[in-house]
Amino acid sequence: MIVYDKQSGTFTLHTCRTTYQMKADSHGVLLHLYYGPRLRDGDLGYLLQYADRGFSPNPSGSGADRVYSLDTLPQEYSTCGVGDYRLSAAEVEQTDGSLLLDLRYAGYGIRPGKYELEGLPAFHSQGWETLSVILRDPSSGVEVELLYGVCEEDDLITRAARLTNRGSGDVRLCQAMSLCLDLTRADLDLITFDGGHVRERNLDRAPLRPGVQGVGSVRGTSSHQHNPFVVLCERGAGEDHGLCYGAALLYSGNFIAQAERSQFADTRLVMGIHPHHFRWTLGPGETFTTPEAALVCSPDGLTPMTHRFHRAMRRRLIRDPYRDARRPVLINNWEATEFDFDAEKLVDIAREAAELGIELFVMDDGWFGARDSDLSGLGDWTVNEKKLPGGLEALVPRIRALGMGFGLWVEPEMVSENSDLYRAHPDWALGAPGRPQTLGRSQLVLDFSRQEVRDHIYDALRRVLDSAEISYIKWDMNRSLTDVWSAALPADRQGEAYHRYVLGVYDLLERLHRDYPGLLIEGCSGGGGRFDAGMLYYTPQIWCSDNTDAIDRLRIQCGTSFCYPVSTVGAHVSAVPNGQTNRSTSMETRGVVAMCGTFGYEMDLGRCTAEEKETVRQQVCTFKERCRLIQEGDYYRLTDPFHNRDYTAWQHVSPDRREALVSLVTGSTWAAKPFLTLRLKGLDPNALYRVNGGERRYSGDQLMYAGYPIPPQRGDYQAVQLYLEAE
Ligand code: DGJ
Repeated sequence: MIVYDKQSGTFTLHTCRTTYQMKADSHGVLLHLYYGPRLRDGDLGYLLQYADRGFSPNPSGSGADRVYSLDTLPQEYSTCGVGDYRLSAAEVEQTDGSLLLDLRYAGYGIRPGKYELEGLPAFHSQGWETLSVILRDPSSGVEVELLYGVCEEDDLITRAARLTNRGSGDVRLCQAMSLCLDLTRADLDLITFDGGHVRERNLDRAPLRPGVQGVGSVRGTSSHQHNPFVVLCERGAGEDHGLCYGAALLYSGNFIAQAERSQFADTRLVMGIHPHHFRWTLGPGETFTTPEAALVCSPDGLTPMTHRFHRAMRRRLIRDPYRDARRPVLINNWEATEFDFDAEKLVDIAREAAELGIELFVMDDGWFGARDSDLSGLGDWTVNEKKLPGGLEALVPRIRALGMGFGLWVEPEMVSENSDLYRAHPDWALGAPGRPQTLGRSQLVLDFSRQEVRDHIYDALRRVLDSAEISYIKWDMNRSLTDVWSAALPADRQGEAYHRYVLGVYDLLERLHRDYPGLLIEGCSGGGGRFDAGMLYYTPQIWCSDNTDAIDRLRIQCGTSFCYPVSTVGAHVSAVPNGQTNRSTSMETRGVVAMCGTFGYEMDLGRCTAEEKETVRQQVCTFKERCRLIQEGDYYRLTDPFHNRDYTAWQHVSPDRREALVSLVTGSTWAAKPFLTLRLKGLDPNALYRVNGGERRYSGDQLMYAGYPIPPQRGDYQAVQLYLEAE
């Protein structure tokens, strides 16, 4: 619910459990008043404190009022160069070259439904209200429209900004954040999700210290190294207590998320496109729209914050037909064969898998062009008939005859130097004239900001997709961007290339969505290098990491879980010893870990023992039976694998709390381990549950508060799964 109170001038955004308030003061400055647990209506302007602070200037219009300063007041969208020395939300190089931006209130609108951001991903669906607040720079023609989407039911507030040049000359945006949030407290921790390739989204938490701290990416993608999702929370906050603010950016390119603890012990969070190499020219009448940011405030800990993001993403970010739909259990040939396969080998892998109940076969890299290694072939999206005689027209019916769907790997944004496409269009790859290009995985990046490049790739993809019955594609992207210079842009607009590239990727994904509405797309960037809320709008699942080691995955998947729903997390069982770590874990353990995701296999099941195959058959059966519970249930982290490597446990609880699945994996073992009693979460305290079909009933309160004893496990990396059903 959005309430504008004429008398006090306050805008109040209520969700079920939270309230957000701002107001334009008598100087027309839009001040942030509150974001936190839900409050009754009322003007929170009494919270504002004014004092004459040295070296905090007084803006135009405040006259001799020495206690009025943008430097000390909480702002809704901070300005630049006119007296607020904290992080700017926007920086604009004006027509006269000044880097000055003042913003004063100029009007508002409230309407049912959600605003749209053309060409950009956004939360959608029913049950939204929109607030739009217009701010203007009195000395130039720059206008900022702040957009707020309020989803009361899911406790979600989204934000974006539109910056328009209403003047008569060009201006250049140097920075345009999606989100600026001023909190009048500094006793907060910043949580970020960091790592690298095969080590994505490990949780890092540290108290805010004075000054600016944050994360970002300048790799052209959201990156393996940092994630566009951060949390600010009270010092002592944990899974079940303490105030937490989660902020997710729906964007898949360069991003920045920074928190600044200011001199007066308040905190500003800004999030948006990274200003590195960002310059956007706005001619008269032109508008720039920022990506969307989504905010969740949880007064009672990290778990409820997670639940709100999960629920909103499943229902309001993922689009039909995959919104809340069960994803097929798949087998992918990559780790089994890499580039070394032919049709017979693939059909053998698929046959074994089909016999064990697996539903979708995915042919990974190596099926096209001269692609026998990662040195060549990217860009030539025609079937390599040496490996696959008769092409997809011959292969796909054979796979489908096994009762399986067929899926295909593609890497549309890339080109190999050794490819027909590159030979024909060397200028289609990103790179500045006269300067040697930088290779990554021996490949170059196509300039997706260019329409003709996208059209060519799209036509090639269409020919492939129309040639056979293909129900899934894995959209991969295997290097970071370098040499970002586009032949389509003049010299003074090269600062637009990074963002235009991302818009180009979104454009192609949108075309696929429009023309192949049933096609399931799994996002991927060398595993989880582009695991962000922006991609989830187009690709309802994302390969979480190239690291399939079950034990490393405990941390990767746990970090991912803070924001992203289980149904979006690509997770497979692969062969042992694991290719990344050389570690061996049992088929049971690998299965339990992969079940906390989309679930599938990435190995030649023909090489398994009869006993292992039986385990696989049971796992597939269990997953199909429990899939709704796993993917739509509430997800609880029962332990913290970043600090406790003895064992990791998590739990899925059905929305009606009648069912739960508890999973636990132990770390490396030692003798005389302490006994382990696991305290469960989220159950109905009054319900009676049977555990794994046993005779004995346990009440929900017993299981949650007294716990459930886990018998001592012998050996390293053991897995336990408990299925709870209420009577
Ligand atoms: C990186 C992906 O993450 C892998 O799963 C696989 O598809 C390879 N690329 C293929 O080149």
